[in-house]
Amino acid sequence: MASFSSLLAMALAISIFLSHSNAQLSSTFYSTTCPNVSSIVSTVIQQALQNDARIGASLIRLHFHDCFVNGCDGSILLDNNGTTIVSEKDAAPNNNSARGFDVVDNIKTAVENACPGVVSCADILALASESAVSLASGPSWNVLLGRRDSRTANQAGANTSIPAPFESLSNITTKFSNVGLNVNDLVALSGAHTFGRAQCRTFSNRLFNFSNTGNPDSHLKHNLLSTLQQVCPQGGSGSTVTNLDPTTPDTFDSSYFSNLQNNRGLLQSDQELFSTSGAATIAIVNSFSANQTAFFQSFVQSMINMGNISPLTGTSGEIRLNCRRPN
Ligand code: HEM
Ligand SMILES: *[C@@H]1O[C@H](CO)[C@@H](O)[C@H](O)[C@H]1NC(C)=O
Ligand SMILES: *[C@@H]1O[C@H](CO)[C@@H](O)[C@H](O)[C@H]1NC(C)=O
Ligand SMILES: *[C@@H]1O[C@H](CO)[C@@H](O)[C@H](O)[C@H]1NC(C)=O
Ligand SMILES: *[C@@H]1O[C@H](CO)[C@@H](O)[C@H](O)[C@H]1NC(C)=O
Ligand SMILES: *[C@@H]1O[C@H](CO)[C@@H](O)[C@H](O)[C@H]1NC(C)=O
Ligand SMILES: *[C@@H]1O[C@H](CO)[C@@H](O)[C@H](O)[C@H]1NC(C)=O
Ligand SMILES: *[C@@H]1O[C@H](CO)[C@@H](O)[C@H](O)[C@H]1NC(C)=O
Repeated sequence: MASFSSLLAMALAISIFLSHSNAQLSSTFYSTTCPNVSSIVSTVIQQALQNDARIGASLIRLHFHDCFVNGCDGSILLDNNGTTIVSEKDAAPNNNSARGFDVVDNIKTAVENACPGVVSCADILALASESAVSLASGPSWNVLLGRRDSRTANQAGANTSIPAPFESLSNITTKFSNVGLNVNDLVALSGAHTFGRAQCRTFSNRLFNFSNTGNPDSHLKHNLLSTLQQVCPQGGSGSTVTNLDPTTPDTFDSSYFSNLQNNRGLLQSDQELFSTSGAATIAIVNSFSANQTAFFQSFVQSMINMGNISPLTGTSGEIRLNCRRPN
């Protein structure tokens, strides 16, 4: 039997290891070096929202796609440079889909003007996500900060790690679990589809001949189906966009979950959370639909969990001066 003291030493070693691997993000990270950073970010997003009601949704999606690939390190923001940087922007889930890069540049410029060389692009995506949600009437929270930016991108990782809307619930659950997120995080974070848009090509497989059944997806309410068949006719443009949340398209609320209960989820991956028989996600959807406060609380915790995925901290990485390229 191991002695008590050796067990203690082992526990100590494990806790030191965990505290290092879990890094030291902190809500006060910029309180002396850039105290006003949140309001600078929020101001630029408010300006962008004037001409583009969708931009907040686009920005939180960038944070998600950043965090799932090599952690929250700003890697999605790097442009292709012809040699070593093969951009994540051109990866399958992002090409002709991820947007808002120009607004990230505007935020970075405003932040650099106030506090040069201090705030990372990875942290800008985390701050922008919180602003976007709170400006759309969702919850507010203290964003944990102190991430640094990568010098590389991982396009192959973006191709394989980011879930696709055509995947099974069990495959998507595995992709979340690969980055340390559980089914509660999966359901809560999917609630981000309470705002923003999706292109026909991401759900049109449900509209006419779903899984070679010859019929539309049976978990798609008839009146929504007819509308979507008109928006996305067979042989039409795959890039036409429609609202992810047909009830309150630009508001961050729990209607995403009541939509799922009514077979009004837009993506197959959305509806699967409620319509996969026996799935653990069903009860979570029901609870978030019944109680928006419970959804908001879980969403905030899950955003913090997602934002904690493998950040670069301390002296790893760098504070990029231009989010599109390494210094
Ligand atoms: C659970 C797996 C997920 C899948 C399969 C998925 C898939 C998609 C797809 C296919 C689109 C439409 C893209 C397009 O048509 O160009 C989309 C949009 C969006 N996603 Fe997800 N997503 C998932 C999770 C998340 C998470 C975790 C978040 C954030 C926390 C998120 C936030 C968004 C937002 C806000 C939009 C709208 C973006 C815009 O209007 O520009 N999604 N998602
Ligand atoms: C903080 O930023 C906001 C928005 O950019 C600006 O209106 C305000 O004057 C700034 N406050 C300080 C103390 O710099
Ligand atoms: C691309 O970026 C890498 C990493 O920063 C750098 O070493 C390389 O010189 C860059 N290539 C070009 C053509 O700028
Ligand atoms: C990205 O989309 C463009 C069309 O806009 C296409 O030409 C290009 O091949 C796509 N890139 C990849 C890597 O699929
Ligand atoms: C990622 O997927 C795109 C589109 O399918 C493909 O063109 C590209 O070669 C892939 N990139 C890598 C590095 O696997
Ligand atoms: C699930 O993942 C497996 C292994 O990667 C793959 O073969 C299968 O096609 C995926 N299924 C769906 C429905 O996405
Ligand atoms: C549905 O798709 C399958 C496979 O492509 C095809 O064999 C079948 O004829 C289609 N059914 C209808 C009604 O179009
Ligand atoms: C709703 O959820 C919150 C947060 O979990 C909880 O405190 C509250 O009691 C719930 N309300 C109802 C009516 O169940």
